Amino acid sequence: VKIPYPENEPVYSYAPGTKERELLKEAINELKSQKIEIPLIIGGKEVRTGKLAKVVCPHDHGHVLAEYHQAGEKEVKMAIEAALEAWKEWQKFRWEERAAIFLKAAELLAGKYRYILNAATMLSASKNVFQAEIDSACELIDFWRFNTYFMQQIYTDQPPYSPKPTWNYVQHRPLEGFIFAVTPFNFTSIGGNLPTAPAIMGNVVVWKPASTAVYAPYFIMKLLKEAGLPDGVINFIPGPGSVVGNLVLKDPNLAGIHFTGSTEVFQNMWKVVGENIKNYKYYPRIVGETGGKDFVFAHSSADVKKLVTALVRGAYEYQGQKCSAASRAYIPKSLWKDVKELMVEEIKSIKIGNPEDFTNFFNAVIDEAAFENIKSYIDYAKESNEAEIIVGGGCDKSVGYFIEPTLVETTNPKFKLMEEEIFGPVLTVYVYDDDKYEETLELCNSTSPYGLTGAIFGEDRKAVSVALEKLEYAAGNFYVNDKPTGAVVGQQPFGGSRASGTNDKAGSYLNLIRWVTPRTVKENF
Ligand code: SER
Repeated sequence: VKIPYPENEPVYSYAPGTKERELLKEAINELKSQKIEIPLIIGGKEVRTGKLAKVVCPHDHGHVLAEYHQAGEKEVKMAIEAALEAWKEWQKFRWEERAAIFLKAAELLAGKYRYILNAATMLSASKNVFQAEIDSACELIDFWRFNTYFMQQIYTDQPPYSPKPTWNYVQHRPLEGFIFAVTPFNFTSIGGNLPTAPAIMGNVVVWKPASTAVYAPYFIMKLLKEAGLPDGVINFIPGPGSVVGNLVLKDPNLAGIHFTGSTEVFQNMWKVVGENIKNYKYYPRIVGETGGKDFVFAHSSADVKKLVTALVRGAYEYQGQKCSAASRAYIPKSLWKDVKELMVEEIKSIKIGNPEDFTNFFNAVIDEAAFENIKSYIDYAKESNEAEIIVGGGCDKSVGYFIEPTLVETTNPKFKLMEEEIFGPVLTVYVYDDDKYEETLELCNSTSPYGLTGAIFGEDRKAVSVALEKLEYAAGNFYVNDKPTGAVVGQQPFGGSRASGTNDKAGSYLNLIRWVTPRTVKENF
């Protein structure tokens, strides 16, 4: 048995007149015309608690898409029990059998589920059609195909040397216990990847999606069931973090955490694990990706057009709500006039509105809390004498949570907006003296505690090399003459270090290896 090396899923254009556009429009209309009720899914069974919360469209918050049942203590315990029960059978599955399930999941998503999952992401996360397609279709399909391939590599790893008369071999097995997957709102693909990567490796999972991301993940659960995933392997329990996290993290069978979300939540989880370290059967594997304060750094030899495209796309795609989004930039004085002029022109031409109109590039931010938080940074910049709003700055939550793409210029390289993660469409620029290139690189390196993504722009290769060296640990994903967003599975393994996470590269062998516990056997003949 051999799984061939996968290819990345092609991105559909949804251009006018195409069949795919029609199918996606139909899926959007179908979801909009109904209000679904989302149960918990524990041991394959739908569980209803009656403690309901609403899912609304962020760009039209009066429109309720669904109500979902929230887990309480009883359901959390049920989910852990169901996972441990499923473990007994699932860990006996051969890797080829697991591969068949997830390769089928990828085919289902490449086919009939593509439209419903894209529609669900567009409506519930306020994502434009292209951003939805590269996320909930292509990236998730890629995760399943590539992770299955990497699983094969790990499970068929070469045994060590066996001098006669011995036979040495290594057996890769899933962890003894369950994995806790905690997923964010901003990528449906991450929502799908965090519970399934450990499951592909033979583990069982308790999955808590963010309260702002229950809708699209529910369709992923349906898809996985159709693909043949046995009941109880992944248990879906949306609910308040305080209730779910508290119980799950203290359970002696917790074998791992697969997390994407805020730095603060991740650090608190780590603390709880530390406090309970004597109670576990197993040292839990902690794999997490958290915040970022991602930069674009331009050298004076940069191509201005390329730079501006990267700044605009890197900062404002998906309303800046990517952990990889460009949120601070360093531009040399000699380029700033041209860069500024072009950026203002580009930003003003961005079409803002509802994602159901496919011509809108820019939609709403996820919810009221995000809106208020982002607005507070914009207000801070408006009131500061160290900053100026160059373009944007408008905020309106009357119909949806809309914040204009905003460009800020500051005279202080340590300005609050240069240091703190905003998670919204706000890019802050610091203009430096051309002859202070190296000093400013050092400043960039030490300004934020994060280390997720970053980009250097320059045609002078020597200057690029200096940046690669000076910013060596400043970004786990580093781009030369490209925007800092949009890592592709199988091409740019993704993850950051420092305060940005454990850097166990999503979409690579390096991540999957965390979900096995190998046994080495020596037989002496
Ligand atoms: N992988 C995404 C990107 O590179 C972020 O999670 O933009």
